[in-house]
Amino acid sequence: MSIPPTQTWHAMHDDLNLLESPQPSQRCDASPANHAIDLRLSEVVSALSCALDLTEGQPAGHAVRTCLLGMRLARMLGLDDTTRSALYYALMLKDLGCSSNAARLSQLFGADDHVVKKNFKTTDWPRLINAMQYIGRNICPTGNIVQKLGRFIAIGVAGDKGARQMIKTRCERGASIARLFGLTECTAQTIQQLDEHYNGQGHPLGLKGEEISITARIAGLCQTVEVFLSTYGLTAALDMARKRCGRWFDPMLVDLLVKLEHDDAFWQSMTDKHFHAEIGKHEPEDQRVYASDRQLDRVALGFAQVVDAKSPWTRKHSEHVTELAVGIGRVMGFDDALTRWFRRAALLHDVGKLGVSNSILDKPGKLTDAQRQVVMQHPRYTFQILSRVRGFEFLAQTAASHHERLDGKGYHLGLEAKHLSKPVRALVVADIFEAISAQRPYRDTMPMDKVFAIMDDMVGTGICPEAFAALRYHVDTMGYTPSRMTPA
Ligand SMILES: [Fe+2]
Ligand SMILES: [Fe+2]
Repeated sequence: MSIPPTQTWHAMHDDLNLLESPQPSQRCDASPANHAIDLRLSEVVSALSCALDLTEGQPAGHAVRTCLLGMRLARMLGLDDTTRSALYYALMLKDLGCSSNAARLSQLFGADDHVVKKNFKTTDWPRLINAMQYIGRNICPTGNIVQKLGRFIAIGVAGDKGARQMIKTRCERGASIARLFGLTECTAQTIQQLDEHYNGQGHPLGLKGEEISITARIAGLCQTVEVFLSTYGLTAALDMARKRCGRWFDPMLVDLLVKLEHDDAFWQSMTDKHFHAEIGKHEPEDQRVYASDRQLDRVALGFAQVVDAKSPWTRKHSEHVTELAVGIGRVMGFDDALTRWFRRAALLHDVGKLGVSNSILDKPGKLTDAQRQVVMQHPRYTFQILSRVRGFEFLAQTAASHHERLDGKGYHLGLEAKHLSKPVRALVVADIFEAISAQRPYRDTMPMDKVFAIMDDMVGTGICPEAFAALRYHVDTMGYTPSRMTPA
């Protein structure tokens, strides 16, 4: 296939690297048949955790740094290897449910959900005065006083019950995706209890003290410390931990954390540019998980669900694009090995959309030029996230090319036809077909013949004739039910 060499791809993306650490070593051969057989699950989830960081409005690497800190505390506590292994994955995947409330938050606040979520992380919200100030600062930033008042009332009506429900959905969804990955129940429970507070005033269950698992207590402390560390520095992070000691956090864990205050080498390692590459060393050695094909399939499916949960307009997008793309690939003669990797690429093609705010993705009207530019970055983010995994070259390149066109007028690279492989061409066609046929806020689903007529005009300039013919054959023989919206 004629995809540009891997080095060229990296050079094309250097300007917007999500992380400061260098890319992992790459092979030039992007054939899916040659993928690594010793791939560790930690390599995959640490890369994908960056997509969760972006959804939470945090810098890429937040979850991995949280994991570094959590594993240090777990070792100081003398937790056994099995528990530390469960904690390790819980810390990197703690925000798996993050996309499930993004649309609702953006709608409720009339604001960029990334900003709303980021500011939430630094707010001592159980204290009413802080909660009111947080709401006041974050509602409808570009709106007038009447619009702000309307949002304020809506948030007041939703009240504590609404907040609890949003956190409940987020925690339960995160835990269920961790189970889908085949991770332990301890990992799932840690994610489920992430926002519980030591004094019982957390959400969603109001668990108190040791009713919250030790791993969830560690995760709750470490995620907040990391946010303060990245935003304000170490002194502010430790001050915050001391102030919330006994309310948010287990005093025993805060004592341990404070003992690290003068360990300059440790804090340096948290901000070192190589921290991302180091995370594999912190997985308990005899508990190392190697990613089987089945597990990679589950991780791709789980992250597709995270992406699809982000917006009510695209609740089934990745799933349906994958169904179509694999069908097209079969008609075009893709063999089983290629199809397996191609399915993963299709599932993960829009993972970069997690880096785009719902205030843009769900905007009912026309996007401004600046907003369109933001949307057009999402395949770039997809590449930057996926290409961090050793052996994911084919997957990253294919997934990140899903908005390219034969005439070179696509995005985000404007690749020419000679650089668009058959899998890319199949994915492009599947993505366009799903998007056109799906229900929109201003219209119902579109009849198949109308979708085909619109796409027929793109053949030769935008889309590949062979892939389009394969799509028609697949849909004619297998049928297809277009996606419908699901309210936030
Ligand atoms: Fe896309
Ligand atoms: Fe898409």
